[in-house]
Amino acid sequence: MTPIVSLDLASWRPNAPEEQQTAIRTLEGGGVLLLPHLAFELSRGERRFLSPAWSNDRAKNISLEGNVLKGARGDPESLAALAHMIARFAERAGELVTGLFPRYAPYVKRARTSFRPQPAVGRTLSWRKDDSRLHIDAFPSRPNRGERILRVFSNVNPVEDRVWRVGEEYAAMAQKFLPQIRRQLPGTPALLALLHVTKGIRSEYDHLMLGMHDKAKADLGYQRDCPQQTVRFPPGATWLCFSDQVMHAAVSGQYMLEQTIHLPVTALYDPESSPLAILERLCGRRLLPAH
Ligand SMILES: [Fe+2]
Repeated sequence: MTPIVSLDLASWRPNAPEEQQTAIRTLEGGGVLLLPHLAFELSRGERRFLSPAWSNDRAKNISLEGNVLKGARGDPESLAALAHMIARFAERAGELVTGLFPRYAPYVKRARTSFRPQPAVGRTLSWRKDDSRLHIDAFPSRPNRGERILRVFSNVNPVEDRVWRVGEEYAAMAQKFLPQIRRQLPGTPALLALLHVTKGIRSEYDHLMLGMHDKAKADLGYQRDCPQQTVRFPPGATWLCFSDQVMHAAVSGQYMLEQTIHLPVTALYDPESSPLAILERLCGRRLLPAH
């Protein structure tokens, strides 16, 4: 079963070695690190952002990339304040990751920060985009060639839990679905890149990750019967995981902040724990092109 490990942390700048050890062991071991008392506090003025009305309807999430706010609507002053709130969370999340995982610090390049004012589930989507089904994160248009996806989440809802289902361990899931995935046709990765369907070449690693994402979501029997647990993230909780490794599914909740951080496999304390290394062991061959 995927480990869910709770740490009684109250500072965004932790530096205790035992906390670091627990955090490293949990995350790189494919678990979820839960910090129930590490709240991201909203100012009184920011509490007005706890409403889906700030979404511009086209996007599910409001996001901040660099200084650009996307997916939001409102008057310029409010949007500036909203961007400021999201940027402050990005800052805290970066400090937290640097504090708990000093080895990651030089590699921490922040990707998108998002604020999710919509209910976690409820919209009808295609099964492939339905995040209420257990999945690992893998994106069709963004091959990452083994780069890790580390995510920091905070539930900023004052009253309602964020609820996930968390599935079985990565290797067990991979063993089930790998045999069902066909090899990419030769030439396909280059063609997809040429047509800008993918940003860069889809490696065999990316192909397998995407295949497992899709096979798991499409398999309703697996969704129902696989080993899983319900995990509740209470108001004021923060949690972290490698979302390319932890099988997760949204159950309910509203108002969450999320920071994505991409890390090269070489930044890990134990690169052998990565999905890339696990898949290469299971397949018995290299899954990235040599360069
Ligand atoms: Fe996900």
